[in-house]
Amino acid sequence: VTGPLLVTGGTGHLGSELLRQPRGMPLAATWNRTEPERREGAQGVEWLRLDVRDADGVRRAVERIRPRAVVHTAYRQDSREVTFDGAVAVARAARAVDARLVHLSTDLVFDGEKGSPYTESDEPNPVGDYGRAKADAEVAVREVDPGALLVRTSLIVGGAPPSRPERDAVAAAEGRSPMRFFRDELRSPVHVSDLAAALLELVELDEAGILHVAGVDGIDRYELAQVCARAHGVDPAGIESATIAESGLDRARDCRLASDRARGLLHTRLRGVREALGAAPGSALAEREGHP
Ligand SMILES: NC(=O)c1ccc[n+]([C@@H]2O[C@H](COP(=O)([O-])OP(=O)(O)OC[C@H]3O[C@@H](n4cnc5c(N)ncnc54)[C@H](OP(=O)(O)O)[C@@H]3O)[C@@H](O)[C@H]2O)c1
Repeated sequence: VTGPLLVTGGTGHLGSELLRQPRGMPLAATWNRTEPERREGAQGVEWLRLDVRDADGVRRAVERIRPRAVVHTAYRQDSREVTFDGAVAVARAARAVDARLVHLSTDLVFDGEKGSPYTESDEPNPVGDYGRAKADAEVAVREVDPGALLVRTSLIVGGAPPSRPERDAVAAAEGRSPMRFFRDELRSPVHVSDLAAALLELVELDEAGILHVAGVDGIDRYELAQVCARAHGVDPAGIESATIAESGLDRARDCRLASDRARGLLHTRLRGVREALGAAPGSALAEREGHP
C-alpha cells in the first residue's frame, strides 16, 4: 500500500514530534487553529486545515489524501465534540479508505483506585468529562474499525517547546506561580520522542485493540515537578506539594500504566521520566530563563 502517513493534530505536542522523526515515508498532517508554518521541522509535509468535528470535511480530506495510515492525536481536553465525535469521524474516514488507524487515548479512562499499574485488561471507569469522552471514543472507534490500535498513554513530557508539566514546574520553582503539586497523584509520564518512535513502529505492526505505551517510572506529581525543574536547570526547592485528599477535588489518584505488552513488541525503549529528563543542560527553558 502506498499513500502518506496522516497525522491529525500535526501542530500539537505529540503530532509535531511525529512529523519531526523521519521515517522515509510521505507525510500529511492536519492543523486547526495553529498555523503550521511557524513550527520547527516538519518540512515536506502536506498540511491541511481541518476541524475534526466536521465529519463530511474529514471524510473528503481523507478520501483526497488516501493515507495508508492515520495516527489520530487531535483532541481538546475540554471538548467532547472534538475528542469523541472527532475521533469517530476520523475512524470512519480511515476505514472507508482502508487506512491503518492508530488512535491516541489516555490513562484518565481509569478511576485511579486500583492501587497498582493498570494493564490493558482493566476496565475503564473515568472520573471526569475528558476521561469519559476518551473512554467512549475507544469503544466507538473499535466498533468502526476492529483492526484499529488504541494507544493509551500518560503525561507527555520533553521535546520543544517544553510541555505543560515542565512549564508549570519551572514557574513554581521560580516563585512565579502559586501552583502546588499532588503527592498522592501517580502517573507514568513518557518522553514525547519515545512515544512518537513507538507509534511509528506500531503503525507498521498488525496489533489491534488496546495497548499501553507509557514510561517505566510511576511517579507522583510533586516528584515529577522536581524532576522537571531540575531538567531545566532550576532549583526545585521552592516547589510546594499538596494532596488530592486535602484539596477535596474529584480526581483520579493512581493512573500508572503497565506497558509490559508494548515493551515486548517494540524496539523503542520507553524510558522512565527520571532518566528521560535526567539532565538537559542547554534545554530550551534553561536557555530562555538564563540557566546554564
Ligand atoms: N498531553 C498529555 O499529557 C497526554 C496524556 C495522555 C494522553 N494524551 C493524548 O495524546 C494525544 C496528543 O496530545 P498532545 O499533548 O500532543 O495534544 P496538544 O499538544 O494539545 O495538541 C492537540 C492537537 O489537536 C488539534 N485540534 C484541536 N481541536 C481540533 C479540531 N477541532 N479539529 C482538528 N484538530 C484539532 C490541535 O490543532 P491546533 O493547535 O492547530 O488547533 C493540536 O494539533 C491526545 O489524543 C491526548 O488525548 C495526551
